[in-house]
Amino acid sequence: MALTFDATGLFGDGKDARLTRAEFAAALPRAAVVRDRHLANLPAWRTLHARREHLDASLRRAEEVKQRHAPEVFVVLGIGGSALGSEALAAALAPVYQEWRPSPGQPRLFVLDNVDPDWLGEFFDAIPADRMHVNVISKSGGTLETSAQFLLAWERVRRAVSSDAEARERFTITTDPAGGHYRALCERQGFATLPVPAGVGGRFSVLSPVGLFTAAMGGMDCASLLEGAAKTDARLRAATPDADPALAYALAHVLYLERGKPGHVHFVYSHKARLLADWYQQLWAESLGKKRDEQGRKVHVGPTPLKAIGPTDQHSQIQLFVEGPDDKVYTFLKLDKFGRELAVPEPFADSPAFAPLPGRSFQELMQAEREGTEIALEQAGRPVCRIELCKLDAFHLGAYFLFFEVATALAGHMLGIDPYDQPGVEAGKKNALALMNAPGFEAHALALRGAIARRQVVRLTC
Ligand code: PA5
Repeated sequence: MALTFDATGLFGDGKDARLTRAEFAAALPRAAVVRDRHLANLPAWRTLHARREHLDASLRRAEEVKQRHAPEVFVVLGIGGSALGSEALAAALAPVYQEWRPSPGQPRLFVLDNVDPDWLGEFFDAIPADRMHVNVISKSGGTLETSAQFLLAWERVRRAVSSDAEARERFTITTDPAGGHYRALCERQGFATLPVPAGVGGRFSVLSPVGLFTAAMGGMDCASLLEGAAKTDARLRAATPDADPALAYALAHVLYLERGKPGHVHFVYSHKARLLADWYQQLWAESLGKKRDEQGRKVHVGPTPLKAIGPTDQHSQIQLFVEGPDDKVYTFLKLDKFGRELAVPEPFADSPAFAPLPGRSFQELMQAEREGTEIALEQAGRPVCRIELCKLDAFHLGAYFLFFEVATALAGHMLGIDPYDQPGVEAGKKNALALMNAPGFEAHALALRGAIARRQVVRLTC
C-alpha cells in the first residue's frame, strides 16, 4: 500500500460533536454519485502520471542543462501552484540544507515565490549569475510577480555572460504550450520551454513538468514520483465507494464543514515533509473557497486549511486545538519509517531530565509525540484522522499528491462548486496590474483609486 487513510478518530458515539458512523454511511451514496461523475469525465491532471512525454522532456532538458553549463544553482521563479510543489519536493527529497550542500553533482535549489526587494536583492547578490539556471514557471504568463522576477533574473544573467544567446541558455520557461504571454515571447526570443499541460491548473500541476523538471534538476527520482501517483490512481479507481479513501477523506471533511468545523488542520510529523502542508493548504483553500456554486448562486463556502508541524506546534498551537473552539478537523501525517535510525545517546542517564530517553530512538520519540497528541485531541472530543506513508520518498510523495488532488476535486464537487477556478485570485491579480498602470487597465485603475480615496481612514501610530 502506498498510502493509508485511518479514519478511526473521526467518529464518535453520538454523545459529542463528532460524526457517527451511521451519519457517514447515510451520506455515502450522495458522495458515490459525485465520484462516478468525476470518474466518467476524468480531468487532465488525473492522467499526468501516464504522460511519459512529460517525464522524458523534463529529464532530457535537465540533462541538457547540466551538460551545457553545469549550473551551481537552480532557481525556480513562480508563485502559488507554480512554486509550492517544487518547494515541497525539494524540502522532502533533497538533502537538508541543500541550499548550501546539495547532493554530489547536483545544483543547489531555490524557489523564489515572492517579490520582496530585500529578499530578492540579497539573493541575486549572493548567487553567481553565470553559474545559475533559471526555470520561470507561469501557465498564464500574466502573473506580475513572476514577470518582475523574470526581468530581474534576466538582467543579472545577461550582465554576467557575454551574449543574449549565452544568457538564453541559462533559462527554461515552463508555460502553456499553446497560449499565454510567455509562449509568444519564447517563440520570438528562442527560449527553451517545457509545457504546463492543457487543462491542468497550477495547484494540480506538480506531477507535470512544473514539478518534474525541478525534481530532475535536483537528482530526484521522477519516475518513482509518477509511479506512486499511478499506483494510487489505479487503486482509487478500482475501489468500491465504501472502500475509497479519497472519497472518505473528502466526504468526512465536507460533512464536518457543514456542521460548523471549517478549520482543517494538516499536522505533519516529519520536518522534511513540512512543506507538503503549504502545498495542501493552497490546494484545499484555492480549490474549495468559493463565492458561487456551479449554478451561480452566492454560497461563500470553504474550509480554512491550517498548517501545523509536529512536535514543534505541540508547543504552540496545540493549546488552542485541544481547549479552544471545537471548530476544526485534524489530519495527522505519519511516516511509518523515517529515513534513518537515530539513537538517543546515553550520558547523564541518572538525571531525571533524561530518564526516559537512553536506549530509545528519535523515531520512537516522534511516534510517541504524535500519538500522544492524537490521543489528547481525541480525548477532548476533537475529530482526528491520519494519513500514513510508509516512508518519505519519491514514490510515496507521488501517492500523497495524487490522493489529495483527488480528495480536493471530490470535496469541491460535493460542495457544488467548481474546484478548478480561482476568481478571487484573478481579482487580486487584476487589481495589482491596474495599480501598476498596466496598459488596458486604465478604467479599472481609476475605479480602484476612487474607491481608495473614498475610504474612511483609520490609522493609529505610536
Ligand atoms: O493554482 C493556481 O492556479 C494558482 O495558484 C497559480 O498557479 C498562480 O496564480 C500562478 O499562476 P501562473 O502559473 O499563471 O503564473
